[in-house]
Amino acid sequence: MRTVDLIQKKRDGYSLNKEEIDFIVSGFTNETIPDYQMSAFLMAVYFQGMDTEETTHLTLAMVNSGDIMDLSGIHGIKVDKHSTGGVGDKTSLIVGPLVAAAGVPVAKMSGRGLGHTGGTIDKLESIEGFNVELTKEEFIDQVNKHKIAIVSQTGNLTPADKKIYALRDVTATVNSIPLIASSIMSKKIASGADAIVLDVKMGSGAFMKTLSDARELAETMVQIGKGLNKKTIAIITDMNQPLGYEVGNANEIKEAIEVLSGQGEAGLVKTCLTVAAYMTMAGGIYTDFNQACTALAGLLRGGGAMAKLKQFIQAQGGRTAVVDNPGLLPRAQNHLELKSDTAGYIQSIAAEPVGIAAMLLGAGRKTKNEPVDYAAGITLKKKVGDEVKHGDVLAVLHSNSTINRQSSQILNNAFAIGPQRPEELPVVYDVIK
Ligand code: URA
Repeated sequence: MRTVDLIQKKRDGYSLNKEEIDFIVSGFTNETIPDYQMSAFLMAVYFQGMDTEETTHLTLAMVNSGDIMDLSGIHGIKVDKHSTGGVGDKTSLIVGPLVAAAGVPVAKMSGRGLGHTGGTIDKLESIEGFNVELTKEEFIDQVNKHKIAIVSQTGNLTPADKKIYALRDVTATVNSIPLIASSIMSKKIASGADAIVLDVKMGSGAFMKTLSDARELAETMVQIGKGLNKKTIAIITDMNQPLGYEVGNANEIKEAIEVLSGQGEAGLVKTCLTVAAYMTMAGGIYTDFNQACTALAGLLRGGGAMAKLKQFIQAQGGRTAVVDNPGLLPRAQNHLELKSDTAGYIQSIAAEPVGIAAMLLGAGRKTKNEPVDYAAGITLKKKVGDEVKHGDVLAVLHSNSTINRQSSQILNNAFAIGPQRPEELPVVYDVIK
């Protein structure tokens, strides 16, 4: 088999078979296929797409490029969740303890933030003492004992995806549905879950800007899951503005604690309850969506979710006092209020610039391995549909460094204010099973 023939076949719109896809993925992973040929191949996929069968073969080829976690030592149906990425997305911090409190084992591997999106691991590390590096035995024991452990991705899971993603990032081939779907699903399948709930973000701050693209991505991932005998459900949720009020690390933990104690912003609560309900249904705890939502809302109001959060933090060595007193979380030295220079209604808050402004304040990284300032971030004071008067505070910027004009300017430009109250944005657009 010759790589050039496979590039040509894809370029001309033909489907590749399993052997051909395995050849490309293993050749690139073991460096017999150079970057320039893989770049051409990825661009051919970008333009020609892949059918479900090819996408499933690509997913499996990436799964088989590295280790596969064996979680059979964990009792019960292990349900993983994954968000396709957004700004202010703290759902894992909320649904993890919530579904664990309902009895679903959560054995989750998460990542760190990069660019305008944050990462669950950085957020958890803003809790003093929290250890994200457990051995496999500690991880399994903790899930069996407390129903929840969240650790940093370790081991040699999906090395092909890591290499391919790095190349996609610099060849303008990230935004391709088969490439995104196979990248996400390969990691979830290699992580060893029995069932997968996907939170597919849709809107200006997401990879998928339109509902039809979000549906196509969701359907592709559900089909891959089904083809590989993993129960997979995809929920399409809004990312036309940041999720909730807080964007950063410690401040997102604070907001997650609020939701787990039965309070919190309505859109964030609804997103979390929906994801959690489908996770508990996939985990065999409830059979009906409304029944699941009622029970989960009861755990939020009744203290069950907060008790689980404390157990989880304690099990991983974190300071549990932050749960009752979030003031103990890292706090920034410098704060700047961004005020409105006009009156009207918030029409939109572009999520990506908010994420970029938070990154520039120190909450995220421009490049891998940079340290983050856990106390840095942004607190939104207004959301889409809110009325503002001239001089009202739109958001507060937090940082331990000097807050420069660039971040406040970017944040200011993220807000669009107009004379009419806009139509309310849906929180959940669709569920694909
Ligand atoms: N997230 C992933 O893990 N992979 C992609 O390709 C896009 C988002």
